[in-house]
Amino acid sequence: MKIKYFGHSNFLISSDCNIIIDPFFTGNPFVDENEKDNVKPDIIIVTHAHADHVGDTEYIAKKTNAIIISNFEICNYFEKKGLKTHALHIGGKKTFPWGFIKLTPAFHGSSFADGSYGGSPAGVIVNIEGKSVYHAGDTGLSYEMKMLGETNDIYVAMLPVGDNFTMGIEDAVKAAEWLRAKIVIPMHYNTFDLIKVNVEEFEYAFRHFRLEYMKSKEETTL
Ligand code: NI
Ligand code: MN
Repeated sequence: MKIKYFGHSNFLISSDCNIIIDPFFTGNPFVDENEKDNVKPDIIIVTHAHADHVGDTEYIAKKTNAIIISNFEICNYFEKKGLKTHALHIGGKKTFPWGFIKLTPAFHGSSFADGSYGGSPAGVIVNIEGKSVYHAGDTGLSYEMKMLGETNDIYVAMLPVGDNFTMGIEDAVKAAEWLRAKIVIPMHYNTFDLIKVNVEEFEYAFRHFRLEYMKSKEETTL
């Protein structure tokens, strides 16, 4: 499995199936927006309807014919635009020959940029090559994460650390502990002034937990 991080909450997981989560390229200061033309996902996962997560979903789905997987309300929105979707909801799972995708709880909002209803926000577990990757979406710390750690063997956890709209570093460290993840990747920080943090503090915290830590934006094989 290869993981490429485009900054903010945008990750490409490449394996038997190519999956992009929250494909925010246009307006993302960490990436050349033309990168959106280089990704060839089979599946686009959208955790919630906020613009920094929906991002270039419509553009990429039109171009690549990728299936959009999200909550029912967000799928409805894209279905009306003639795009292929598969709706899930919190706790629901879809199984594929290579693994599964399951939506998990997130504590946040989920309205579209125009204010229309975008259902419940979610996190997601992508199980691929027998490994589970957990992307928390935008969320505060919750005890659900302890449950997720007990009921899943989480290999990689992508956790927001930018504070203000989501968990900050201190809570994300607690989340990582509960999730028992082998590898933790901080996300959703430094994109905007409101979510500027010193991510070194997050790295420092993991010396205590002896977890591996990855912040490279290069494509990495895990
Ligand atoms: Ni959000
Ligand atoms: Mn966000």
